[in-house]
Amino acid sequence: MKPRVIVTRKWPAAVEQVLAERFDTTLNAGDIPFTATQLKAALLNFDAVLPTVSDRLPAEVFPEEQPRTRIIGNFGVGFSHIDVEAAKRRGIVVTNTPGVLTDCTADIAMSLLLSVARRTGEGERQLRAGEWKGWCPTHMIGAKVTGKTIGIIGMGRIGKAMARRAHFGFGMKVIFFNRSRVDDEETRALGAVQLLSIEDVLEQADFVSLHCPGGAENRSLINADRLARMKKSAFLINTARGDVVDENALADALERHAIAGAGLDVFAQEPQVPERLIRLENTVLLPHLGSATEETRVAMGMKVVDNITAFFAGGTVPDRVV
Ligand code: DGY
Repeated sequence: MKPRVIVTRKWPAAVEQVLAERFDTTLNAGDIPFTATQLKAALLNFDAVLPTVSDRLPAEVFPEEQPRTRIIGNFGVGFSHIDVEAAKRRGIVVTNTPGVLTDCTADIAMSLLLSVARRTGEGERQLRAGEWKGWCPTHMIGAKVTGKTIGIIGMGRIGKAMARRAHFGFGMKVIFFNRSRVDDEETRALGAVQLLSIEDVLEQADFVSLHCPGGAENRSLINADRLARMKKSAFLINTARGDVVDENALADALERHAIAGAGLDVFAQEPQVPERLIRLENTVLLPHLGSATEETRVAMGMKVVDNITAFFAGGTVPDRVV
């Protein structure tokens, strides 16, 4: 008998086809997000549950009775939406999809950086509204990017990919904070300097880009005190997780022009976006597009397939989190 597998959202067709060939698969053709009750039922009735960042799996969603589920194959690298300890207690393996979305996420981070610095969102809104009065030396002046200092918080795969883009593409000096020591060939080639505290990075950087995991450990890592450390001319870029930033404190700082701007691809309560951030001109806001390319989404899906295939074959599961 093939394992029973349930997919919580609509996935790229090519991946859904492979899943349907290998497993007894239930798809979500309507792409309507599952409720907590549906997620609980999925854990009770399927051998594998394949969620995404849009599903919340806190401890309460895990049923009291022993679930049928033996593996949660997350479609995404970040897994702070899953209580992995609750999964572990019930003997459920959790996997993610590292590596395949590194470049595309760094591309979106760089695109936010350029866009907020050079005011392209504002410019486009003005032009589309028919309010552009023509070229003029003082029109919509932004901040130069080339040669500035970028501060990376979280020097993992995506942090390094962002640092590469900034350094080799834009001649930027790279400084970074990472909880553990990072001293490898790649960071040395970038001339990247690891600083001992987040505060040091915030004080020195012209652009701060967040690439650390979400969840309890980093919740509100960028709070009012830390925002106050940033230069008035500096920009904050977040493609990591919304809860890493205290969004109210960020809106305060942006409204007071205590920092120059923010480019955000992620929000604490997605898909809700704080009204105060939407009202501001010095923000560029995207609907969590980091990994949203055809190639990457297919690769993410295939990684999930590989993980659950290895699991049910009794082999080594490549991307096991717990
Ligand atoms: C990730 O992979 O973590 C992306 O943010 C989408 O979930």
